[in-house]
Amino acid sequence: MTVEMRELLLSRIRDVADYPKPGVLFKDITPLLADPAAFTVLTDALAELCVTHGATKVVGLEARGFILAAPVAVRAGVGFIPVRKAGKLPGATLSQAYELEYGTAEIEIHAEDIGADDRVMVIDDVLATGGTAEASLELIRRAGAEVAGVAILMELGFLGGRTRLEPSLRGAPLEAL
Ligand code: PRP
Repeated sequence: MTVEMRELLLSRIRDVADYPKPGVLFKDITPLLADPAAFTVLTDALAELCVTHGATKVVGLEARGFILAAPVAVRAGVGFIPVRKAGKLPGATLSQAYELEYGTAEIEIHAEDIGADDRVMVIDDVLATGGTAEASLELIRRAGAEVAGVAILMELGFLGGRTRLEPSLRGAPLEAL
């Protein structure tokens, strides 16, 4: 991706102060999604990472990860697998709980949709504490598949997500555009 492309993406991310609670600076990607040129740059860049790292499937993390991962799957010619918050998938699921700042959360995957032949790339908009991505890597491995990597739009470095995720990556790449 060129410097100009990166600047285009950056220019379409809106900072929203004190959302969803006081003291948080929220990174809003809806202006990027509303701009077809920027959305195409993003989709192409993430799809290229999938091809480079030999992914056979992409996992999108609910909910904003779905918006990015679905067109990436089509562009890269690979399958799309939703990882959803607990209780939303109708079939047989694998579940993974993870720690939040206060309390725990749980995400699920349809176990039969990925297997030993797959290399899976996790796609999301933001890496913050890394908890969601870490839990998704656990789900992928428990389903018997290999992790191709994690590809995200933005990394909030000050929250330490990369450090938290490092052991779970087991050498797979974490690519932040
Ligand atoms: C956000 C974001 C990531 C996750 C990152 O999703 O889209 O999935 O948080 O945070 P972490 O690195 O600390 O785990 P959120 O749970 O707000 O859900 P949404 O996409 O449904 O808004």
